[in-house]
Amino acid sequence: MVPVVLSGGSGTRLWPYSRSLYPKQFLPLTSELTMVQETVLRLDGLSVGAPWVICNEDHRFMVAEQLRSEGATPAGIILEPVGRNTAPAIALAALALKAKSDDSVMLVLPADHVIENVAAFHESVLIAKEQAESGKLVTFGIVPTAPETGYGYIKRSNEYAEGVFGVDQFVEKPDLATAEDYVSSGQYYWNSGMFMFRPSRYLEELERFSPEMLSACRAALDGAACDLDFTRVDKAAFEACPEDSIDYAVMEKTDAAVVVPMDAQWSDVGSWSALWEVSDKDENGNTCKGDVITHDSENCYIQADKKLIATVGIQDMVVVDTDDSVLIASKDRVQEVKKIVSSLKQSN
Ligand code: GDD
Ligand code: MG
Repeated sequence: MVPVVLSGGSGTRLWPYSRSLYPKQFLPLTSELTMVQETVLRLDGLSVGAPWVICNEDHRFMVAEQLRSEGATPAGIILEPVGRNTAPAIALAALALKAKSDDSVMLVLPADHVIENVAAFHESVLIAKEQAESGKLVTFGIVPTAPETGYGYIKRSNEYAEGVFGVDQFVEKPDLATAEDYVSSGQYYWNSGMFMFRPSRYLEELERFSPEMLSACRAALDGAACDLDFTRVDKAAFEACPEDSIDYAVMEKTDAAVVVPMDAQWSDVGSWSALWEVSDKDENGNTCKGDVITHDSENCYIQADKKLIATVGIQDMVVVDTDDSVLIASKDRVQEVKKIVSSLKQSN
């Protein structure tokens, strides 16, 4: 089993802590380790090879250094000159493994998730492995707790083997009303964004559903320059690649999908409120990081950098101080932080 770590996201909803040169996967959000380090270290105890990482070329030294310092030296780091979303990123990894005549299953892991119950994660991975080895495209399903519209939903069909269900329907990011119906029906899981399959099976499905994406990825890898552990894909070829996520490009369309439920206290920490949910809190429900004093304040996420932050009488707020910016937001509006990031980009 080969871990393939997707580390190309920009984590804009965790601005101003997460920045394009330093996105959330390279930050220590929930422990002393960074999220990409946690991603690889939680594989300890599973029988896996050295990880492959796919990331933006700007982050190459950060990835290499963060993993090496934890004794998890990657088998290879594939560098993208531009982001083309997850379907091409995974295709590059599958093609690179195939070029080494390695068709052992790939465990695709986003670099920026929190999993608190590692034993449950391992259990689901082992169940998935058997299915992936027999040619299935496995997704990991999380029992939904709210009608989140930022996730993919998987409708399960019959139990196919112990702990494995068929996929009746895969719907990426439904609207709120649809998500509400899905959650109340009890028949849907959230797609965790982790996948497992053989490289050859993923490439076969991609050939069926998006042949132009596959040929662009092939050309990008054929023209790649290799130095040290880095594989720098050909810029012009990869820029010409259509952009799409694995969810839309393959998982919604394939007949070979199965879902393995995972009850591992998973979170994609996609926003400040999600980070507050998984963080330690004081007796008033506040998460305080750095030099913080609160008085009569409840259920807040407060992160100080160099200055002291003091709060009086506030509830459900996010306050994050960094070197050059301060965010003050209502905790139920934190999804809109990405709007601030877009307007900052436009004005620069
Ligand atoms: N290398 C690389 N290149 N990685 C990428 C790229 C890219 O162009 N785009 C995204 N990634 C990485 C991100 O860093 C993240 O770890 C992972 O791939 C998923 O990308 P997101 O952009 O965070 O996807 P999402 O959150 O909108 O949706 C996906 O994840 C949800 C769960 O967190 C989907 O799979 C949903 O169905 C799923 O519910
Ligand atoms: Mg995400």
